[in-house]
Amino acid sequence: MASVFRKDFLWGGACAANQFEGAWNIDGKGPSVSDMCTNGTHTEPKRITTAIREDTLYPSHEAVDFYHHYEEDIALFGEMGFKVFRTSINWTRIFPTGEETQPNEAGLAFYDRVFDCCKKYGIEPLVTISHYELPYALVEKHNGWADRRLVDLFLNYCKTIFARYNGKVKYWLTFNEINSGVMPMGAVLSTGTVRGYEGSVKQVPDRPQERFQALHHMFVASAKAVAYAHANYPHYRVGNMELFATSYPLTPAPDDLIANQKYMQRMNWFCSDVQVQGKYPYYTKRMFEEFGITIQMQPGDEQILQEGKVDFYAFSYYMSSCISADAADKQKTDGNLVGGLKNPYLTASDWGWQIDPKGLRYTLNEIYSRYGIPLMVVENGLGARDVLEADGSIHDSYRIDYLRQHIEQMAEAVKDGVDLMGYTPWGCIDLVSASTGEMAKRYGFIYVEKYDDGTGSLGRRRKDSFYWYQKVIASNGADLV
Ligand code: BG6
Repeated sequence: MASVFRKDFLWGGACAANQFEGAWNIDGKGPSVSDMCTNGTHTEPKRITTAIREDTLYPSHEAVDFYHHYEEDIALFGEMGFKVFRTSINWTRIFPTGEETQPNEAGLAFYDRVFDCCKKYGIEPLVTISHYELPYALVEKHNGWADRRLVDLFLNYCKTIFARYNGKVKYWLTFNEINSGVMPMGAVLSTGTVRGYEGSVKQVPDRPQERFQALHHMFVASAKAVAYAHANYPHYRVGNMELFATSYPLTPAPDDLIANQKYMQRMNWFCSDVQVQGKYPYYTKRMFEEFGITIQMQPGDEQILQEGKVDFYAFSYYMSSCISADAADKQKTDGNLVGGLKNPYLTASDWGWQIDPKGLRYTLNEIYSRYGIPLMVVENGLGARDVLEADGSIHDSYRIDYLRQHIEQMAEAVKDGVDLMGYTPWGCIDLVSASTGEMAKRYGFIYVEKYDDGTGSLGRRRKDSFYWYQKVIASNGADLV
């Protein structure tokens, strides 16, 4: 079968600094929100603490130590044929408390080494500027993004890295899964509106007023960064990044249809309507009334949003769920930060995330018909328990099946007419889970010998999916067998 993907299709993989770099306090790095999070399990949520507690394991502190293994890891990405590598910059490597006037040179130099190494293998970096690693000092001092001062601090951080990596990086994403701020758990990972809170990340006090105010500040910050990039670095391409939690009405009952439409607006469309269309969407007023919130805007904010529209739309897609007007007594499903109801037509991963490849085709069409700008799937994959065999092999046929089915549906979407730029499956090398802090939940093509109790040699091993993905890339997505 001939490839349907464009010739310059960006095949690659994705990681986030806080989940794989480790070296949490090395070379001047300050603590981020993630560094204050313990590990958990599928059934026992991870916790955030207000100080580093003795005898407590913080999985991000060492993670898989990409900081000291980046050459080996990028060489492996090169061996798979990656065209692009999505990674993020740890804000606290550059500005340890978020408020310094001068950046930390050792932190900047580390990413120089990473991007130079990518170049050596012909890999284009795609950089998430902020991926769930807000400086913890900004939480303690300002209650995170609830405080408007973060807009300028973020912009200063963007200006620093835009200038430093000019010539090395072209593709940028402002905030990872910005819409996670719509959900209570997003207060920890994304908006950082958890000053003084210690406890389970699933029991964070639900304070929508703070989260949506924080989101407004993030929209303004993102728009200012985009406008600044366009004005000063016209060759830069800056995207948004959404957690796409595709949902279907549980039944054809009109009430379920309306409930699902409202869920889709709130969860999936609200943030990107602002970031792609440059203004708050028409349904915002009623939505805010229902949340009982009022957002403080400054004069000029509307213009800032209008002038900072993104160039392309990036999103994560793992699963789908169902929505009902009457959810009581119905079976719930697990998911990445979001839940929803079980779909009787779908199976689920070991962590209860429902597997829905056709939902990806549907989602690509929905997004493209709404915005008409290039799309990129920057996260997708199967978190699973892998078995390291005695001979060092890992037979992850379940992961290959999952990815194959999703790529097949991406191909269908391209045939439908969607402009798809690239695909970077999540956790291309095993890393720490964002929702549970586990190592056991693995996504990689590359296995890392690191375990939930913090032990492990950190040795790297190629899984079966490594060789499979190598063929996929070499054939530009035509050979999926
Ligand atoms: C996305 C995040 O929500 O999903 C990643 O952007 C995260 O940071 C990924 O790791 C998978 O979720 P999890 O909880 O399995 O790590």
